[in-house]
Amino acid sequence: MSELQQEVARRRTFAIISHPDAGKTTVTEKLLLFGGAIQLAGTVKGRKSARHATSDWMELEKQRGISVTSSVMQFPFQDRIVNLLDTPGHEDFSEDTYRTLTAVDSALMVIDAAKGVEERTIKLMDVCRMRATPIMTFMNKLDREGRDPMELMDEVESVLRIRCAPVTWPIGMGKRFRGVFHLLDDRVHLYSAQHSGRAQSGEIVEGLDNPRLDELLGDQARELRQEVELIREAGNEFDEAAYLRGELTPVFFGSAINNFGLRELLERFVRHAPPPQPREAEPRPVAPEEPEFSGFVFKIQANMDPNHRDRIAFLRVCSGAYRKGMRIRQVRTGKDMKIANAITFLASDRDQVETAYPGDIIGLHNHGTIQIGDTFSEGEALKFTGVPNFAPELFRRAVLRDPMRMKALQKGITELCEEGASQLFRPLQGNDLIVGAVGALQFDVVAFRLKNEYGVDCAFEPVNVATARWVRCEDPRRLEQFRERNAQSLATDVAGELAYIAPSRVNLQLTEERWPEVEFRATREH
Ligand code: G4P
Repeated sequence: MSELQQEVARRRTFAIISHPDAGKTTVTEKLLLFGGAIQLAGTVKGRKSARHATSDWMELEKQRGISVTSSVMQFPFQDRIVNLLDTPGHEDFSEDTYRTLTAVDSALMVIDAAKGVEERTIKLMDVCRMRATPIMTFMNKLDREGRDPMELMDEVESVLRIRCAPVTWPIGMGKRFRGVFHLLDDRVHLYSAQHSGRAQSGEIVEGLDNPRLDELLGDQARELRQEVELIREAGNEFDEAAYLRGELTPVFFGSAINNFGLRELLERFVRHAPPPQPREAEPRPVAPEEPEFSGFVFKIQANMDPNHRDRIAFLRVCSGAYRKGMRIRQVRTGKDMKIANAITFLASDRDQVETAYPGDIIGLHNHGTIQIGDTFSEGEALKFTGVPNFAPELFRRAVLRDPMRMKALQKGITELCEEGASQLFRPLQGNDLIVGAVGALQFDVVAFRLKNEYGVDCAFEPVNVATARWVRCEDPRRLEQFRERNAQSLATDVAGELAYIAPSRVNLQLTEERWPEVEFRATREH
């Protein structure tokens, strides 16, 4: 095996999907702890990414430097290198989450055992299904009274439409929680509450029939044996191939806050989760073992430090290796750039990266020339596909308080919209700047940042736009006619793509019917 092949085989790149409060932050902390990335849990900043109130969010945004660091975390575990990509907690940032999911090879679903499958998990699971992303499941908070484990798995199977195969099985829950039985290793891991946050493991008992279990667990040992018999007869067995196809999820039980049950998960994760896979691109798919470097940008984030307005483009390496100082080409513009100071994301610090392999993320300093979805290569005209841009559902017009600041406003809005959470549309007619967003909080954030980072005081007013669709047409003449007739409802986005901004859904429907040759897309592929 070549060095590159070995490095590819060791990489595991994933994200956590969960409903707010299920325990994503806590799980992240404990995983980092196992990776030796931090000594004590509780150091992951940006906890509870202020999903509650705008004002909280503003406060938190002041620490954005930190949130940049923690948005990609790399840590070693056993002989593997794990990349964990964080996803924003607030639902108004869901687009960002969706795009992050295009940059991972698998996902970890965290479910609160008392609450079961919740709404946001359902949505995120739908996104994972589009790419048949393999998913492992962690049922969290077993130290509290929750739902019956069988019932939880039934719910996952029926609501999320994925088969469950328990790998560990809980022994009691809440006050009676005693540990988990590992079905594949035939071992019992005993639980003791560990609030210290240190990575320790409790006593391990080999074999379900071990009399030591009766000593330790009494009646619960008998109950456990009965349950295990039942699962072995009636449940799904772990099947790696089905997991890799996204049809079956291995399920682990535990309590993240007590650092229990996660080690079992992480061990199986590094063993079974897929390494970087070949990825769809135009004009051909790209395999990670190809010697030439390639990758795509899935996220752009600005730093709040007003003195160094460095925006960082997060690039997922898809093939070859990145080496410090190498020249890579931005395929969209055809420009070559020398990358001397890319950022890597070792959990402890933001280090300068020397080398990065497929599955790794590197941060490129972006001075406004890089867009979400951009492909970089060593020269080949490749384009990675499948990084979506969703049609926003809320629109407002930016209104400037000081007309002399128009230039600054345009610059600010354009730059902020490049981050992708909100989108800028410039109507073909008139001078309006229309911002579209998936959630209302975005407007507050944009206004706040415009003021803070660009010194522009602006408000957002209602505007007569209900929805937007990106427009495509095979026939250039027909497209030209469409443009002429509908100029009042057409705009260009940040990338210069044409979009139809409809005053109402009915209007959109009528226009679609009137122009059957024109495609109206709800997502724009970057
Ligand atoms: P999130 O990122 O998915 O939103 O969840 P987070 O980890 O912040 O956890 C949400 C709440 O659930 C936190 O409590 C956290 O301490 C708690 N939690 C996480 N894992 C477990 C567990 O295994 N058992 C129990 N009982 N609770 C757990 P909080 O009170 O909202 O926040 P905090 O005051 O602890 O920070």
